[in-house]
Amino acid sequence: MPFRIERNDITRIIVDAIVNAANNSLLGGGGVDGAIHAAAGPELLEECRTLGGCETGDAKLTNGYKLPAKFVIHTVGPVWHGGGNGEEAKLRSCYRRCLEIADKNGLESIAFPLISAGVYGYPKKEAFKIAVDEIRSFLRNHDMEIILVVFDRNSLFIGDERFREVQGFIDAFYVEIPRRVYSCAANEPIGTAGREAPAKKTAKPHKKQKRGLFSRKESRDYGKEEDSIDDFLPGDDLSEESVPLPCAAMPTFTVDESFSEMLLRLIDEKGLKDSECYFRANVDRKLFSKIRCNKDYRPSKETAIAFAIALELDLNTAGELLSKAGYTLSNSILFDVILRYFFDTRNYNIFEINEVLFSFDQKCL
Ligand code: APR
Repeated sequence: MPFRIERNDITRIIVDAIVNAANNSLLGGGGVDGAIHAAAGPELLEECRTLGGCETGDAKLTNGYKLPAKFVIHTVGPVWHGGGNGEEAKLRSCYRRCLEIADKNGLESIAFPLISAGVYGYPKKEAFKIAVDEIRSFLRNHDMEIILVVFDRNSLFIGDERFREVQGFIDAFYVEIPRRVYSCAANEPIGTAGREAPAKKTAKPHKKQKRGLFSRKESRDYGKEEDSIDDFLPGDDLSEESVPLPCAAMPTFTVDESFSEMLLRLIDEKGLKDSECYFRANVDRKLFSKIRCNKDYRPSKETAIAFAIALELDLNTAGELLSKAGYTLSNSILFDVILRYFFDTRNYNIFEINEVLFSFDQKCL
């Protein structure tokens, strides 16, 4: 995926260039500036001394020295004074200038911190949105691997109401099923791995679930008082209705249509151009052409889900597209349950999806 968000220390990332959120002197400081200078060693400061500083919104390139990254692009973000002093334009300029310098120097990968979101006080949520917006705009016309490195947990936060709503959905659907080892022949569980098979509980008759997916009605019902978690817990009878089967045994809806064929059909039905679809899915052109040219190509689960979101598919069609690649949205994988929440509420806003995934320590799309 050309663009990803990850929680990390930028000084450890192996890319062509990392971006430093510096100050106008370029002579070091605290925060990410201090961390980068400490990791790069004194030669970085020596080179910075020759640059004669940097304007706010501009950027300058140096070597990376002891850093895993080959280069450092130093940029100076705006100090937040409430938003009425052109802060947004200057912050956007930081991302654009860094990307311009990277492109001009033929760099193929770059990692950004959240510029100005620390000492300079830019509201983190806004700083994040500007970063993602500028990066995605650049990727419309350029091939580059771009990482947005989020260092501290509260850099990406979602509102309490959204958090409660998603948490309620997770409580209703996400069940940690003890790992069962299936005997490959019978598809029968032979007890949980390493432990005795759980004793049969007299669980309440659970609602029939579609394998791997909840019907829209059930997913609408979640959170109602009369429902208890038992209604959604697969009972101990492991007949295939109650527990998603291993992928190999998942149903295929129409045997003759592959993932690639269904994807291309849906793109046409939605009236989208190929480029618009794979851009929305944050999939690079090369990967898309592989999928397009090889009817039996099997993408990763994240890629299949990203296309389902880009096409704004309803829950069942998304499940059908995923099943073509041999996947299902499982109720025992937190990432899947969170994605189901967005399919179920028909919210395809990639910002919001990534904010929630990040808030629950899940990999972002
Ligand atoms: N890796 C990735 N991100 C980091 C790291 C790190 N090692 N350390 C801090 N960050 C994050 C912060 O959590 C924040 O989200 O980088 C973002 C930018 O924070 P600052 O480093 O404070 O940068 P900024 O807000 O742009 O202020 C720049 O601070 O350090 C001084 O010399 C610098 O004067 C300049 C000012």
